[in-house]
Amino acid sequence: MGNYTLGIIKPDAVRKNYTGKIIDRFLQGGFKIVAARLEHLSREQAEKFYAVHKERPFFNDLIEFMTSGPCMPFVAEHKNAVESYRKFIGATNPTEAAEGTIRRDFAESIQNNAVHGSDSDENAEKEIAFFFTVSQIHTI
Ligand code: RTP
Ligand code: MG
Repeated sequence: MGNYTLGIIKPDAVRKNYTGKIIDRFLQGGFKIVAARLEHLSREQAEKFYAVHKERPFFNDLIEFMTSGPCMPFVAEHKNAVESYRKFIGATNPTEAAEGTIRRDFAESIQNNAVHGSDSDENAEKEIAFFFTVSQIHTI
């Protein structure tokens, strides 16, 4: 179990000015935010980041959405980070997300679902390196 995971506050939530509220939820939930910045993904970056989904019917819409405005990639630190974080954000579809989770409270739809989270330690490592250099991650 690793202690770090990659999160993204997606463009829907940034547009609605939920960034501060979502970061505060993570902090109150015992996560440390050890790196963060605003970034407007290019089509190329988004396609690379979500390459695992390129054969899925929703891929083009997902890329349009993820490039529709700035997002906020961040690194969260927590014991058993990947699993703790995914439990904290809730199911992909906000109508299936548990009460009190970030997606239940801030997501618009199965696509515009407010936040991303890595799905394994191996992917967390790759996704963190996709956005941040070691010197941009600050243990607090
Ligand atoms: P994420 O990777 O963003 O943390 O989300 P996830 O693991 O919960 O879900 P995943 O299956 O990896 O899907 C990636 C993102 O694609 C969009 N999506 N749209 N229209 C649809 O049916 C559909 N299904 C998935 C969502 O933005 C989802 O988070
Ligand atoms: Mg995923």
